[in-house]
Amino acid sequence: MRGPGRSPFRQRVRVMQGYVPGEQPRDRRYVKLNTNENPYPPSPRVIEALRDAVGESLRLYPRPLADELRERAARSYHLAPENVLVGNGSDELLSIVMRAVVEPGEPVAYPVPTYVLYDTLVELHDGEPVRIPFAPDFSLPPELVEAPARLVIVCNPNSPSGTMIPPRALRPLCAARERLVVIDEAYVDFADANCLDLLGEFSNVLVLRTLSKSYSLAGMRIGLALGAAAAIAELAKVKDSYNVNRLSIAAGAAALRDGRWMEANVRRIRRTRESLSQGLVALGFSVPPSQANFVLARRPGENLAPLYEGLKRRGVLVRYFPTPDLYDALRITVGTDEEVAVMLRVLAQLLG
Ligand SMILES: Cc1ncc(COP(=O)(O)O)c(C=O)c1O
Repeated sequence: MRGPGRSPFRQRVRVMQGYVPGEQPRDRRYVKLNTNENPYPPSPRVIEALRDAVGESLRLYPRPLADELRERAARSYHLAPENVLVGNGSDELLSIVMRAVVEPGEPVAYPVPTYVLYDTLVELHDGEPVRIPFAPDFSLPPELVEAPARLVIVCNPNSPSGTMIPPRALRPLCAARERLVVIDEAYVDFADANCLDLLGEFSNVLVLRTLSKSYSLAGMRIGLALGAAAAIAELAKVKDSYNVNRLSIAAGAAALRDGRWMEANVRRIRRTRESLSQGLVALGFSVPPSQANFVLARRPGENLAPLYEGLKRRGVLVRYFPTPDLYDALRITVGTDEEVAVMLRVLAQLLG
């Protein structure tokens, strides 16, 4: 064994925490409202496509650029295939962006609180996180527009706030052409608007989508990067050769072909989101207007760790972030009406 000073691992890696994903517990059945999964199943067409894809062809590598899914995504979003890169989840696409853009010491700017994985990835790539606090209303911080960073990330709708910056408000951010603006639209199918129009206007904008949330396919790991062909070509150079497997390609293409299935589920989730928000407000939480499939429930200044623990003990799992900016909040995924009713009932009991 080597002593600690002779570890083969990079200093950066040894000292870093590592990203902690939401729990996927196996000890009991929970009302699971902690990782923004979709409570409804994927389209039956996905299952059919998976059955067809399981077979002899699995001995062959997939197409490096996931052609079938890439072409289908291009049609869905009125783009050319050259404008699409498929990833093993949008998490992988975030990694690919960092690998392609971040030099050691490179500032990478984003408004916070936001998706914690950005911190982890910037750190891992020896970049310099420039964390710009959101105003209390989660509007675009003007300092972000001025930030001297070649890479800016905006999670929109944002996690964990659920709030959305109107696409037109992002235009000044995109106007600096030497910077890459990544708009993480993981939750955008639950929102009233999206930023796809910015792609036509700005070649330095990259929109990230995922099939994990609205398409109920978190288990398949499918993400899409949409952007100018030149940017997509640079990103493609640094990805693993066969980053998306044959089953995911088939499932993703089938899911996109059945957009109406996804839209029906989104309509249900948006309705439940409304009743969830109202229920939380009635219990004394403040809830910023959500455009996602989760809400942030806050009791300003109150440590909500005991509430999170109490919910968990009673079989309800939500997300708690023990950080100075989020210790007084719970992020709660919009489940089915029944799941949300259970969660609100337990919450009411705990609050006495
Ligand atoms: C803001 C945001 N971006 C990206 C992702 C990752 O999605 P995927 O499952 O496609 O990797 C998540 C998942 O929770 C997310 O919250």
